[in-house]
Amino acid sequence: MIQKDATYVVMGLLDPDSIAFAVGQGIEESGGKVIYTVQNERLKRIFLDRTDKLTPEQKAAIHFEYCDVTVDEQVKNVFEKIGPIAGVVHSIAYANPKTCLGEEFHTDAYDDLKLAFHISCVSLATVVRYARHQMKDGGSVVALSFESRHAFPYYNWMGVNKAALEAVVRALARRHGRDLIRVNAVSAGPLTTKAAKSIPHFAHLARTWRKASPLPWDPVNDKTEVAQSVLFLLGPHSRKITGQILHVDGGVSAVGGDLLSHEKHAEVLAMGQETEIIHVPTTE
Ligand SMILES: NC(=O)c1ccc[n+]([C@@H]2O[C@H](COP(=O)([O-])OP(=O)(O)OC[C@H]3O[C@@H](n4cnc5c(N)ncnc54)[C@H](O)[C@@H]3O)[C@@H](O)[C@H]2O)c1
Repeated sequence: MIQKDATYVVMGLLDPDSIAFAVGQGIEESGGKVIYTVQNERLKRIFLDRTDKLTPEQKAAIHFEYCDVTVDEQVKNVFEKIGPIAGVVHSIAYANPKTCLGEEFHTDAYDDLKLAFHISCVSLATVVRYARHQMKDGGSVVALSFESRHAFPYYNWMGVNKAALEAVVRALARRHGRDLIRVNAVSAGPLTTKAAKSIPHFAHLARTWRKASPLPWDPVNDKTEVAQSVLFLLGPHSRKITGQILHVDGGVSAVGGDLLSHEKHAEVLAMGQETEIIHVPTTE
C-alpha cells in the first residue's frame, strides 16, 4: 500500500492511542520507515514516557522529532533535518475545550479561536510549505478531519476548523499538483484518543455514530481501519487522487437520521446499542 523502505513523517504523536501511532504502525508493518513528530518535550514526558501500553524497547524504537506547528522555524528545521520523504501525515488539532467546544457556541475568546485555527487548519499549509522540499519527485500528504458538513452538538468551533482544514486540502492540492504532491484528508468517525477526551460530551458523538452508522462503528477499535485508509492515500494506489476528503466513518456522512432496527447489523443489535453506555472518559 505504501512505498517499501520510503520514509514518512507522521505528525501528532501523543501516546499509543493517537491516530498518528496507528498510522505509523501501519506504515512500518507495510515496510516503510516512520519519523513521528511530538509537540514538545513536556508532553512526551507526560504521555509517551509514562504509558504502560508500550514496553521500554518499543518506546526506545520510536524515531521522533519535536515540532510545534505554530512555530514556523521548528517546522522548517524538522523537514530540513530529515532528508527525502515520500509523504506526510498531519494528525494534529487543538481547540480550548472551555471556550471553543461545549454547550455554548458563542464565545469572546478570540485568542483561543485564533490559536485553534492556527493549529488545526493553517498548520497544514505550513507543513506542506516546508515538507515539499523533501518531496522533489512528488509525494502524498494526508490530514485528519471530522465530518464538517453538519454541525454536531458540542463540537462547535472544531467543526468550523475542520471545514476550513478541508478547504486548505483543496487549495494545497491545486497549488502542488505541479510538484506531483497530492494532498487529501481522511474524515474519520469518533475514536477514543486524548483529543477526543477533551471534547465535552464525546460519548454523545460516539452514540450518534452507534445509532446512525450503516456499518458497525467502534470508537475504541476502529483506529486501525482509519489508519489503513490513510495508508491508501499515502501510497501509489491513490496516485490520481488529490484534493479529496475520504470519509472513513462507517457511512454516517452519507445517510440521514438514525438507522431503523431492521437496517442495523446483527452485531450492533446484539449489543443493545440504544441503551449502551460507551466507555470513554467524558463529562456526560
Ligand atoms: N479522535 C477522533 O475522534 C477524531 C476523529 C476525526 C478526526 N480526528 C483528528 O485526528 C487528528 C489526531 O487526533 P487524535 O484523535 O489522534 O488525538 P491526539 O490527542 O492523540 O492527537 C492530537 C495531536 O495534536 C498535537 N498538537 C496539538 N497542538 C499542536 C501544536 N501546536 N503543534 C504540534 N502538535 C500539536 C498534540 O500534541 C497531539 O499529538 C486530529 O486532527 C483530530 O481532529 C480525530
